[in-house]
Amino acid sequence: MSHALETRRRRTFAIISHPDAGKTTLTEKLLLFSGAIQIAGSVKARKASRHATSDWMEIEKQRGISVASSVMQMVYRDHVINLLDTPGHKDFSEDTYRVLTAVDSALMVIDAANGVETQTRRLIEVCRQRDTPIITFVNKMDREVRDPLDILDEVERELGMPCVPMTWPVGQGKRFGGIINLRTKAMTVFHAGSEKRPEDFETISLSERDKLIARFGDAFLAAEESMELAVGASPTWDHEAFLAAKQTPVFFGSGVNNFGVIEVLDALVDMAPSPRPRTSTAVVNRQVQEQTIQPEDSTFAGVVFKVQANMDANHRDRIAFVRVASGKYVPGMKLKVQRTAKELRPTSVVTFLSQRREAVDEAYAGDIIGFTTHGGVQLGDTITDGANLQFTGLPFFAPEMFMTVVLKNPLRTKQLQQGLAQLGEEGAIQVFKPDAGGNMLLGAVGQLQFEVVQHRLKTEYDCDIRLEGCQYTGARWITADTPQQLREFENAYPLRMAHDAADALAYLCTSPYDVRLAQERFPKIHFHPLREHA
Ligand code: G4P
Repeated sequence: MSHALETRRRRTFAIISHPDAGKTTLTEKLLLFSGAIQIAGSVKARKASRHATSDWMEIEKQRGISVASSVMQMVYRDHVINLLDTPGHKDFSEDTYRVLTAVDSALMVIDAANGVETQTRRLIEVCRQRDTPIITFVNKMDREVRDPLDILDEVERELGMPCVPMTWPVGQGKRFGGIINLRTKAMTVFHAGSEKRPEDFETISLSERDKLIARFGDAFLAAEESMELAVGASPTWDHEAFLAAKQTPVFFGSGVNNFGVIEVLDALVDMAPSPRPRTSTAVVNRQVQEQTIQPEDSTFAGVVFKVQANMDANHRDRIAFVRVASGKYVPGMKLKVQRTAKELRPTSVVTFLSQRREAVDEAYAGDIIGFTTHGGVQLGDTITDGANLQFTGLPFFAPEMFMTVVLKNPLRTKQLQQGLAQLGEEGAIQVFKPDAGGNMLLGAVGQLQFEVVQHRLKTEYDCDIRLEGCQYTGARWITADTPQQLREFENAYPLRMAHDAADALAYLCTSPYDVRLAQERFPKIHFHPLREHA
């Protein structure tokens, strides 16, 4: 198959939802219907143990598992579909944001009884910022849920884009009769149970209206009426508008009952975009130039959007998850880490199938490959076959909580520094070194991150630390138009300046007023709440 065809048949998407909306169930059914797994239950079982407790120890124990299940590849209708899971716990939201930079579209699962919930809202914001096209799946129609018109209205408001229903429910809860496919003009009849396959569901053409009324009665008549209202109120389906994140197709179903799922799998093939071009920068004659990398370009290039370190306690190894942006990866290929200009020598290179990792034969734009290395790679790194380019856009958010690290045994200082550097590179936590000296600071978005880091420093680096509260409540990354302006600012706040793991300069603040005052005093300084890896 030609390179262009290989690229065009790929779909890479993230599945997003609020906990309990049915993300795991839907993931499993997608894998099942594409033939990637044979029996239901396996993804679910892993999730059960993962979420058995929100205790950090449990999360830590399950780390190996979550690596395997966070990226899944399947083949359906001759298309290669890469599904990326997004961590559910809000304390790890930074990870989720970064996962969203590695996909071309998102599948949003919402619980039809609860509508758009808090965590989904945050994820939507990130998708909106990046104009990521979103497919919406309204789950749990077999329960007593909200009116579908009501749900559409809410999704429209939250997403800030019109909904275009692709299927429409007939009844709900005990009277859930099935879904009407608006394109094929046929109704698929609902049957509870998880053993059914898509082809087992009965379909009846809408032209047999009398038969449908006789069978589903008022529920059918009401569905016809609300469907007409919904269709009348929504724009016509416009594929280009969807790709530009200006409308979302909406599907109804019941994941646990395998119902309405194949429609979503088909939508991923028929509607979701193939890998899109990515923006990168290159330094040419000391000038930074922006360039667009096309997925079909022959140069191999990819970006590290996730790093998992020390998977094996006996080896200081780490897996760098790389989203391929262009070119073709083949085993044995010579690769370079752009940041250091050093060769990347992985001990293994794997692809993530639904249940296992396997050595990669070849990978194209859209695919996710894992490089196991002993170091030398960090979050945001661009890996190429030698080309001079660096992808931008991997976000780091200014932490909202800070702790000071106090090492119990000062003889372990070197190990602590090494541990913090590595955990910082992995993005598990943000590490700030105050310019004025003193103890290192840890910055997090969620409390749980501190606990995980404390535990990992002990088990992986044999460093016992104590975390103490400190006065800082926020940070802003600082840039200026001239070195002179920057120097003046640094001189004005010597005790507030720090450098992070990527050596970026930050201003530490004790209240939101701090930033405002500093900004008033130094109007030419730029204060960034978000740092994009460059
Ligand atoms: P999550 O990954 O988004 O957190 O959700 P998950 O798939 O684990 O689903 C959360 C709960 O909702 C599960 O129930 C699951 O069985 C149920 N569920 C998922 N889809 C549907 C659906 O279409 N209809 C109904 N009625 N329930 C659905 P649980 O009790 O937490 O787990 P389990 O004991 O059923 O496995």
